[in-house]
Amino acid sequence: IDPSLDLFAEIERLKKEKNAIILAHLYQEPDIQDIADYIGDSLGLAQKAAQTDADMIVFAGVHFMAETAKILNPTKKVVIPDFKAGCSLSESCPPPLFKKFREQHPDHIVISYINCSAGIKALTDVICTSSNAKAIVESFPRDQKIIFAPDKNLGAWINKETGRDMLLWNGACMVHEIFSLEKITRLQVRHPNAKLISHPECEDPILRISDFVGSTTQLLAYTKQTPHKEFIVATEAGILHQMMKQAPDKTFIPAPPDNSCACNDCPHMKRNTLEKVYLCMQYEQPEILMDEALRLQAKKSLDRMLEISE
Ligand code: 13P
Ligand code: SF4
Repeated sequence: IDPSLDLFAEIERLKKEKNAIILAHLYQEPDIQDIADYIGDSLGLAQKAAQTDADMIVFAGVHFMAETAKILNPTKKVVIPDFKAGCSLSESCPPPLFKKFREQHPDHIVISYINCSAGIKALTDVICTSSNAKAIVESFPRDQKIIFAPDKNLGAWINKETGRDMLLWNGACMVHEIFSLEKITRLQVRHPNAKLISHPECEDPILRISDFVGSTTQLLAYTKQTPHKEFIVATEAGILHQMMKQAPDKTFIPAPPDNSCACNDCPHMKRNTLEKVYLCMQYEQPEILMDEALRLQAKKSLDRMLEISE
C-alpha cells in the first residue's frame, strides 16, 4: 500500500460505498478500535452482528467471531482482515474428538463458550460468552448434567460461582495462562490501592485474588464506573486503549506475565492491522464461507444463547 494513503479516510469512504460495518473486538490494535463502528466483547459483537442491516460485515477479531457473524447472517458478506487470525482456545477443541467425548456422556447437555469453531457449535446445545456464562448455566436445573467446553478455566470459575460440577473440556487460552501470581502479588504490595481485575479465562489462583472478574466489556465498565483510580489488568493488553480513553485520569497496569519474554498481546488478534482492514474492504476478501447444513446446525446453539441473553 502507498504509505501516503490516508487509511482512515479510505476506510470511511469504503464503509459508505459498500454499506459496510466494522465490528471490532476490544483486543484489536488502537487504530482499528478507533475506526470501528462498534467495539465490544463477544456477546455484544454477536448481538450487533445479528441486528445489522449493513451489506458487508468487516469483522476485526478472530476467525470464530467472524464465523459467528456469518452463521447469523448467511446472506451478508462477512470479511476478516486476516484469515489466519485463529484462537488457541478454539483450536484446543477439535470437533471429531469432542464428538467422541460427547458420545461418552449421553446424559449430559453441552454448553460451549463462544470461542469455538462452527463444528463445535453444531455439537452444542447452548453457547455462552464470558458475560452470560453464569446466567446460561443457571438457566438449567441444578441436577442437569452438563459438559462445558472448551475453556477449563472459565468452566472451573462458573462451577465455583454456581456450585455446579460441570464436566470440563481441557482447553485454555494461551494469553490468559501466562500471568504470574508471584509478580502480581509483588505489584499489589507496591500499589496497595490498585484493584486487580481479571478475565475468567485466567487460571484459578489469579481469579481467587481478583477484586473483579468479568468479560472485556464488564472489565471496561468496572474501570469507568467505579471510583477506584488504579487497576492491575489481567487480560489481553488491547483493552487498555479503551480503558485509558474512557477514564484518562486513571492508571492501568498490565498484569505481568511469568516469563519476561512473553507479553499480554494475543498473537491471533494482533494479526489484524489497519492496512489489512483497508485491503479486505477494498477486495472483499478473505471472505467467510460456510457449508449450509453446518451453519444451520451451529445456529441453533447460538440462537438459544441470544434468546436467553435478550
Ligand atoms: P470477551 O470479550 O467476550 O470477554 O472474550 C474475550 C476473549 O478472549 C475473546 O477472544
Ligand atoms: Fe483466543 Fe485467547 Fe486470543 Fe481470545 S485472547 S482470541 S481466547 S487465544
